[in-house]
Amino acid sequence: MGLKKLVIAIDGPAASGKSTTARRAAALLGYLHVDTGAMYRAAALKVLRTGTSPDDPERVSQVVEDARIVLQRRDDGLHVTLDGEDVTDEIRTPAVTRVVSAVSAMRRVRDVMVREQRALGAGGGIVLEGRDIGTVVFPDADLKFFLVAGIDARARRRQEELRARGVTVSIAAVKEELGERDRLDSTRDESPLRKADDAIELDTSALTIDQQVAAVVATAHRVMGEREKK
Ligand code: DC
Repeated sequence: MGLKKLVIAIDGPAASGKSTTARRAAALLGYLHVDTGAMYRAAALKVLRTGTSPDDPERVSQVVEDARIVLQRRDDGLHVTLDGEDVTDEIRTPAVTRVVSAVSAMRRVRDVMVREQRALGAGGGIVLEGRDIGTVVFPDADLKFFLVAGIDARARRRQEELRARGVTVSIAAVKEELGERDRLDSTRDESPLRKADDAIELDTSALTIDQQVAAVVATAHRVMGEREKK
């Protein structure tokens, strides 16, 4: 009998290493990688493009319900399309980052995203990363990780990531943005960022990407092995 394909949840604050870890672990396991933050970012981009006030939950929810947000796997990585247009780069701009916490705090926006994420993960064989995967989207996930890292390590990583995209920002500005987003994401009423009780906490401050990926993949293999024996 083949091994049952797992649902793996990776949650944590901004720039804690979720995306790289999830992407590489998924590739090694032959699983689908779903960056749920990218979905919320695409929703936020739609809000900006339509000139909708982020302070108007009714309008924002309607705009997001009407948006077509699709994640596609391509040879060069995960792509995000919004109403048929590739917005993979645009969703990472500071303008989107500034409004995404407000947009993702809205109940109806989350309902749309969670429905889609559950559909994607229904058959297993998936690594989903975000803020509420282990607590809300898949509370029964086979394996849950909660990634944490000190603000200095996270700010350095995010600054590097932005630099690679040609965006120059001071470390102080990155720290402020991360701190503010974490505060908003963890204090909101709807599905706040929180470690699930049964999640494995990984502090990535002093870990290399290879070590983070190895931890996820080794645990996945162990869980699959244990299931096989039952
Ligand atoms: O992972 P990220 O920084 O790209 O996520 C962008 C924002 O989307 C984040 O600040 C909060 C929101 N988000 C969320 O509310 N729930 C998720 N599962 C993923 C992201």
